[in-house]
Amino acid sequence: MKSSVVRVDPQTPQRDAIERAAAILRAGGLVAFPTETVYGLGAHALDPNAVRKIFAAKQRPGWDPLIVHVRDLVMARPLMKRVLPQFELLAGRFWPGALTLVINKAPQVPAEVTAGRPTVALRMPRHPVAAALLAAADLPVAAPSANQFGRPSPTRAEHVVEDLGDRVDLILDAGPTPMGVESTVLDLTQSPQVILRPGGVSREDLEKILGEVSLASSVSDELAAKGLHGPGMTTKHYAPRATVELFEDARSQASRADELRRAAKRVGIVDTSGNPEQLARTLFAQLRELDAQEAEVILCVLPPPEGVGLAVRDRLLRAAGVAAEKPTRDGQDSRE
Ligand code: TXA
Ligand code: MG
Repeated sequence: MKSSVVRVDPQTPQRDAIERAAAILRAGGLVAFPTETVYGLGAHALDPNAVRKIFAAKQRPGWDPLIVHVRDLVMARPLMKRVLPQFELLAGRFWPGALTLVINKAPQVPAEVTAGRPTVALRMPRHPVAAALLAAADLPVAAPSANQFGRPSPTRAEHVVEDLGDRVDLILDAGPTPMGVESTVLDLTQSPQVILRPGGVSREDLEKILGEVSLASSVSDELAAKGLHGPGMTTKHYAPRATVELFEDARSQASRADELRRAAKRVGIVDTSGNPEQLARTLFAQLRELDAQEAEVILCVLPPPEGVGLAVRDRLLRAAGVAAEKPTRDGQDSRE
């Protein structure tokens, strides 16, 4: 089966396309749709068979839980065991938007969605196409990023076609996604709360409301340090096919590029000339593009770990095959 791709206006999506997509979701099918972060691969979150199709299409391991997307707080509340005041506060401030909240789940949320965990990750997206789809379908939609597991997340419908083009019932194409990195995942079941994944909502903005928020780090800082100037060594995530090498400044990148070229390596360099928001918007597309050009080594200068820069650094470290660093309070890397 080849997926149908339907173009929709990103601001005011066509009614018939949205209705068609909503009908597919209600019937237990798969729809890829744009959010303000990246494209998602959606299925009816309360239908275990539909959810299993997501794992099969992405070749995603069964232990990795999915985010459930909701139309509004009214749809979110019955999915939780208990509605926490902190949930109300954060959703009130940041929804719709790039913040995913992890909360204890209600029994009606199937184990397939949460990978057997007692918690569920909830997000209300801001993108008009995602919002229209959730309203029309009138059901919670489980959706991971619509890439093949382990590939960079899709920021354009073309990326979805590349990775999953024959495994999705419908792809809604609204052009490039506005933010380009995934949502921030915040765990509200731990006290104090922990950022499980930095993303589109900055740590600084969360801390204005919550006070100090810590950042989960999955491997040691020593491993993160080895990710600089060297090939990756742990399991890759968000990974292009090339080796990724990271630098704190343009000069060290330039001398490494010279060295590699003298050794006749095909070098690809990520364009970091804009601000961190621009880099966030284009990073995944750039990694895919450099792969397509058959770069053997991809070089990139890391943005400072502030604002969306923290999320961009996280994705780059993962692309290099190391998990995220854990910055200290003064913004310095603990690597240093
Ligand atoms: O921006 C986004 O978050 C995009 C768009 C489509 O909404 N979605 C996305 O989903 O990036 P995915 O599946 O690629 O990443 C979801 C992350 C994973 O790291 C997963 O482990 C974590 O959220 N997650 C989901 N449910 C969780 C839970 N109950 N507890 C802890 N982490 C959870
Ligand atoms: Mg993903």
